[in-house]
Amino acid sequence: MNNNLKDHEHYFHSSWTIAKLTTSFFLLVSICYLFYSLGFITHSYDCPPKKPYPHPTTTHFSITPTTPAPPQETQKPFEKTNISHIVFGIGASSKLWSQRKEYMKLWWRPNETRGNVWLDEEVRSEPGDETLLPTLRISSDVSMFKVKNPRGERLGIRISRIVSETVRLGMENVRWFVMGDDDTFFVTENLVKVLQKYDHNQFYYIGTNSESHLQNIHFSYNMAYGGGGFAISYPLAVALERMQDQCLQRYPALFGSDDRIQACMAELGVPLTRENGFHQFDVYGNVFGLLAAHPTTPLVSMHHLDVVEPIFPNANRVEALQKLIGPMRLDSYGLMQQSICYDKARFWTISVSWGYAVQIFRGIFLARDMEMPARTFLNWIRRADYTGFPFNTRPFSRNVCQKPFVFYLDNAIYDGVADETVSEYILVQPNPDCKWKMPDPTQIRMIRVHKKLDSHLWDKSPRRNCCRFQPTKEEGTMVIEVGECRKDEYAD
Ligand SMILES: *[C@@H]1O[C@H](CO)[C@@H](O)[C@H](O)[C@H]1NC(C)=O
Ligand SMILES: *[C@@H]1O[C@H](CO)[C@@H](O)[C@H](O)[C@H]1NC(C)=O
Repeated sequence: MNNNLKDHEHYFHSSWTIAKLTTSFFLLVSICYLFYSLGFITHSYDCPPKKPYPHPTTTHFSITPTTPAPPQETQKPFEKTNISHIVFGIGASSKLWSQRKEYMKLWWRPNETRGNVWLDEEVRSEPGDETLLPTLRISSDVSMFKVKNPRGERLGIRISRIVSETVRLGMENVRWFVMGDDDTFFVTENLVKVLQKYDHNQFYYIGTNSESHLQNIHFSYNMAYGGGGFAISYPLAVALERMQDQCLQRYPALFGSDDRIQACMAELGVPLTRENGFHQFDVYGNVFGLLAAHPTTPLVSMHHLDVVEPIFPNANRVEALQKLIGPMRLDSYGLMQQSICYDKARFWTISVSWGYAVQIFRGIFLARDMEMPARTFLNWIRRADYTGFPFNTRPFSRNVCQKPFVFYLDNAIYDGVADETVSEYILVQPNPDCKWKMPDPTQIRMIRVHKKLDSHLWDKSPRRNCCRFQPTKEEGTMVIEVGECRKDEYAD
């Protein structure tokens, strides 16, 4: 019985195996044939030998070899935006070019940045200029455009048309057109970082407002101020180019180039995407307060460099910007980023603006006050007081004892052994006498800041860095570490 059962089982098993084998054989033949046929299809594609991912192609599922290949673009692995994808269009005037070009030489990266300077007339070029600066072009004639603004100038029309004129150059692999003035300083790595957040295949108009509420009311809160610079994605620039000249004729009474761009953007229905790292700097005086409490976003641009005071004391405007180049090259993501901490033993508040300045205050100032810009600057509309700023500000100092001790950047290096940057800040101006009976920050001559690079700083949700003291026996020196906040660490 047992045997019978086994035989039966055996019989069943072997007969099933025969059936399976037969099926498998035909299946194998079919699969071989399928792969053989697919060979013709797949081999007709020119695939590079090594790809980071075996990215999907439709070929394995295509039924007939005549199915058209999908467009190349969709098959490419996603490529992050880099500096080569940006084309700058810089509006310049021939009269001021000999001074303004010095600002541009500070940030322009020959053979890396792409773009043109658009002038109204030919200028005399000095030897060496062409290797340090972009191609100079003369804007096309705009005399046929109507103008009705009181100044009767066509300058604004010429500058606003730079976008269209740049599109017409037909440059390849462009994702963004970035406009700026000849007195705009760009931190190109941070510009790239900001633009990486957006899909360049969509319509984007990115920049920000003026620091003057009245300017924003007069022009528009929907407008990217041209001097601070703004970015227009490729397809939007193409759409603008197709309609800009007709559009411009509808706004003869507008004043500048950026309000004309905004008028056409409004017709296209594209709102301003605000990025607060662009700085129009519609202010007078000292921008220290704005730079020492920079918003938690990458520093992208600075404008009106001829209007505001040099950003470092005891330097001319170009030399002052030159000082920023060192820390900018070391750690552009960290440049101007604020961190706030306290020396509780001495009852001092410390505010670091990395790569620029460190301040010591007598007494404890809360984080919500320290992150407000101090009013070291005046409103563009000079009669306006602090209510004329579209953001919160605080007085610079009410009492001589509360005047901060400002330590400005002296030098910054990269320490390869510790794998961190070391930047040193020194006191350059004496503070007024103070009668308060508490430790005097005058005893500190130099502040040394250690900071690790954080290449993912802007890939995370925005958060201010933390700063903390490192004990030191060096007299007259304060040592501070700046970095990502640890668990349960905050400015208290
Ligand atoms: C920028 O990205 C492109 C791909 O779109 C790549 O070919 C090029 O090498 C990159 N350039 C730089 C400077 O990284
Ligand atoms: C830029 O490239 C050109 C040609 O490749 C080269 O001759 C020149 O030295 C480069 N300039 C700089 C500043 O690297």
